[in-house]
Amino acid sequence: HAAEKEGYPHFMLKEMNEEPKAVSDTLSPRIKDGKIVIDELNMTDEQIRAVKKIFIVACGSAYHTGVTGKYVMEGLARIPVEVDLASEFRYRNPILEEGTLVIVISQSGETADSLAALREAKSRGIATLGIINVVGSSIAREADNVMYTWAGPEIAVATTKAYSTQLIALYLLSIHFAEVRGKISADQTAGMIEDLKQLPEQISMLLSHQTSIQKFANRYLAAEHVFFIGRGIDYAISLEGSLKLKEISYIHSEAYAAGELKHGTISLIEDGRLVVAVMTQPQLFKKTLSNVVEVKSRGAFVMAVTTVGNTEVEKVADYVIYIPETNPYFANSLAIIPLQLFGYYVSIGRGLDPDKPRNLAKSVTVE
Ligand code: G6P
Repeated sequence: HAAEKEGYPHFMLKEMNEEPKAVSDTLSPRIKDGKIVIDELNMTDEQIRAVKKIFIVACGSAYHTGVTGKYVMEGLARIPVEVDLASEFRYRNPILEEGTLVIVISQSGETADSLAALREAKSRGIATLGIINVVGSSIAREADNVMYTWAGPEIAVATTKAYSTQLIALYLLSIHFAEVRGKISADQTAGMIEDLKQLPEQISMLLSHQTSIQKFANRYLAAEHVFFIGRGIDYAISLEGSLKLKEISYIHSEAYAAGELKHGTISLIEDGRLVVAVMTQPQLFKKTLSNVVEVKSRGAFVMAVTTVGNTEVEKVADYVIYIPETNPYFANSLAIIPLQLFGYYVSIGRGLDPDKPRNLAKSVTVE
């Protein structure tokens, strides 16, 4: 495989650097004349209007994009969404009534539990849609509708570019459903398309901060526990940021909805404990900021990811990473970049191989 790394020391770093292109490849074919067009969707507008409930079912990082998708789809299209781990969904006899759409998200399209969840939905006569990266994979073949993510082959076990493209597919689907159901105006759609088009360049800009993140990561190589906090979409970002760190660095890390801090985690905060606070959502900013003050006063060391302009974070956080302005629904696409880089640099700083974390497989095709 060495040759395919194209000069990068690891596939993970190569694949992170491919994120702007992967996002652009997934996005641009679906924007035509300033409109979102999802050609591969076999659903009539009538069928889209008849959707009463959506289940998003997935494993691992794909589940985390699903958590983000819930906020975006509910917020824009006003359709109730439940996000389920595939390994839970398939065994819990889910209530699948008429008007339900099951969306299965999977990079490989071969994850055993996700495939079984898809089959469960299909066998009960429920419409299914796959968001899949590997063309012709089992889930892609069996789902009623397939939206491909165009991330290209992903080799590193820890997903980066496939995750980023799954987010794009979910944004496009949410905006499209919102439009068809009359929940957003043509102007709002146009504004969101403008923001989406900026993402590849904004991601490139964030990737160019590698050295500074590596420097910060090197100070935390000996961390034993790390906590990620955020609310709403920032909580979804925290889930993925935390998984990226733990799976390749072997440092114990947990993500908490910031409002839950007081219900447990805060007792684990002590001098020097690293807390990563994600604060991209304007309407939740002040709330999470007050959580940062709380952990700070108990000795935590705080790394914050927030939107450019929120300079007041510097008064309470020790290290602040700014993401460019975008529609808050799309903030995950930007905020995850420094968190992926952080996980990568902690891993290599600890002398580990981020491409092949112990005990993990790229695709889990057994139960
Ligand atoms: C494995 C991988 C993860 C991935 C998950 C789901 O655990 O290590 O990166 O998110 O499987 O895989 P899928 O192919 O279904 O997206």
